[in-house]
Amino acid sequence: MRWTSYLKLLVVIVVAVFPILLVTSSIALINTSPTSSASTLRELAARLGIHIGSAVSYSALTSDAQYAHILGQQFSAITPENEMKWVSVEAQQGVYDFAQADAEVQFAQHQHQLVRGHNLVWFEQLPTWLTGGTFTKAQLAAILQQHIATEVGHFRGDIWQWDVVNEPFNDDGTLRNTLWLNALGSDYIADALRWAHQADPNAKLFLNDYNIEGIGAKSDAMYALVKGLLAQHVPIDGVGFETHLDLQFGLPPMIKENLQRFAALGLDVDITEMDVRMSLPATSDDLTAQANVYAQLMQDCIAVPRCVDFTVWEYTDAYSWVPNAFAGEGAADIYDNNLAPKPAYDALIQALQEPVAPQVHGH
Ligand code: XIL
Repeated sequence: MRWTSYLKLLVVIVVAVFPILLVTSSIALINTSPTSSASTLRELAARLGIHIGSAVSYSALTSDAQYAHILGQQFSAITPENEMKWVSVEAQQGVYDFAQADAEVQFAQHQHQLVRGHNLVWFEQLPTWLTGGTFTKAQLAAILQQHIATEVGHFRGDIWQWDVVNEPFNDDGTLRNTLWLNALGSDYIADALRWAHQADPNAKLFLNDYNIEGIGAKSDAMYALVKGLLAQHVPIDGVGFETHLDLQFGLPPMIKENLQRFAALGLDVDITEMDVRMSLPATSDDLTAQANVYAQLMQDCIAVPRCVDFTVWEYTDAYSWVPNAFAGEGAADIYDNNLAPKPAYDALIQALQEPVAPQVHGH
């Protein structure tokens, strides 16, 4: 072959191979690109089979466009913060108003998000007609059944997971002395689950509580309760671990092991209301420590296949419940007061991007 023929062949090869090189190198670029606007929490979590959620406040959703935008962009699940609670939906006996909750469900559907229904049976945020009324035990049972049937029926098909009973325990592991326990005995929990299941057989049904994240008296009591319910074939699909943490108390002991023992019963184990509060004003060391706590919890969730949802209780300090509930504390969320991501946001991205012990999630 003459020199010019070699040259022509070379040109042909280069022209043929160049596009392939271009495509493969841009794929490499996508795969290796570090945290960037291209990687949202929901995209990274989806790769691991985990939903990442936030509580949503109706007033913020309807008055703050930037809040709504970030909520849709970063999260793949929402939990109405107050709008599905008894006082919100049935402020007057037998008169239901689902308008705000409906608007949130619509937003979620538009953003391809799942909805956690929160909650059906609780001792707080009850209407005064209920707490101040005089009812017989039979009447209270009928009121509870009616409320569950109506609310779950209204949202039938739209709710991924219902917190059917919220916060049933005291910290020492005894059942909390509520209106419901008083009137109906401990059976109110199984009954509520059965009634919810009748109204929407496809919704996943949860018990939800705080201070059950680590192993201790309260989580032992929850464990014994759900084991008993399963043995009686009561419909229950999961346990919600609220995870309202405070920097001053540190991490509860053995969180991963605790999640694993519940998962071993065949239940989903979700982080349902996470925030990490601190004394104000927050220092940059505090924010770093907070970021580590969020990352640790995400790592624990990633390590347990039945942890399918990781929800924060509001994603931004701008709308957090903490300053109202805990005097002198705040800065508990992953975005700051101006809706800018905090170190805790970066830590979650990092934990999702480089999981230590990734497992296949779901079941
Ligand atoms: C809180 C809301 O965030 C507040 O806006 C409201 O005033 C009180 O309730 N555990 C729960 C949630 O299960 O429903 C609570 O939400 C926080 C603690």
